[in-house]
Amino acid sequence: MLSYQHIYHAGNPADLHKHALLAVMLERMAEKPKPLTYLETHAGRGLYDLSSAEALKTGEAAAGIGAHGGDFPPDHPYAKALDRVRARHGQTAYPGSPLLAAELLREGDPIHLAELHPQERRALRGAMGVRAQIHGQDGFEMAQSLCPPEPRRGMILIDPSWEVKEDYDRLPGFVKTLHRKWNVGVIALWYPLLKDRRHEGMLAALEGLELPKTLRSELRFPPVRAGHGMLGSGMFIVNAPFGTEDEATRLKGLFAR
Ligand SMILES: C[S@@+](CC[C@H](N)C(=O)[O-])C[C@H]1O[C@@H](n2cnc3c(N)ncnc32)[C@H](O)[C@@H]1O
Repeated sequence: MLSYQHIYHAGNPADLHKHALLAVMLERMAEKPKPLTYLETHAGRGLYDLSSAEALKTGEAAAGIGAHGGDFPPDHPYAKALDRVRARHGQTAYPGSPLLAAELLREGDPIHLAELHPQERRALRGAMGVRAQIHGQDGFEMAQSLCPPEPRRGMILIDPSWEVKEDYDRLPGFVKTLHRKWNVGVIALWYPLLKDRRHEGMLAALEGLELPKTLRSELRFPPVRAGHGMLGSGMFIVNAPFGTEDEATRLKGLFAR
């Protein structure tokens, strides 16, 4: 039974890292006139309210969007998408990755989202309307069945909740298979940097795949709550679009201050 709900963590430093990189990649890819496909294996509910009891209970957004929202210039794709979402939904709204994608892609770019949790999926449908195809199935299975997608240009975000400990073992093989099936696809995997170093074996296995054109972006930040085991946020990207590395460096600088 899945218990993770992203509302408790929306807008925290890890979200900021993931969403800023995602926004830069999508904007860059959408600059070319050719259509592209966007897929997400673990979509969440798409739209969060940072004034909700759940978000306030952890207060995690304060160290993320609260502390660093002002560090994004108005023409940054993350800032532009956030502004547009807040103009529609209010100043405490926070877009998840599916809504950011809908803001930054063109109407003709297909969006496929997998979300297993029925309550999160219902909210996701409400947030996305007819803009996305929402799959109530395991995200890994959805990706296996849709890749390579049509249009073939595109990107997949893999953002598990890491509740299932086996995910650390299965992810390198999954990334390898995806890349073999879809060698032009941008594959972005988000992972936590953990005090118990559970992520390190997975990263060694990912690096060991020796895939061409990979980028690893990692940020460290103080624990979002006392005793929290997450020390930072990481993104492993295959075929990262031009400009992603500069943004990764910029974000690292923001969090080093
Ligand atoms: C970290 S959250 C997603 C956050 C979202 N990507 C964002 O940045 O806005 C992970 C989500 O994956 C869902 N989930 C967990 N296991 C899944 C699976 N095997 N397939 C699809 N969804 C899954 C959870 O219910 C949760 O809503």
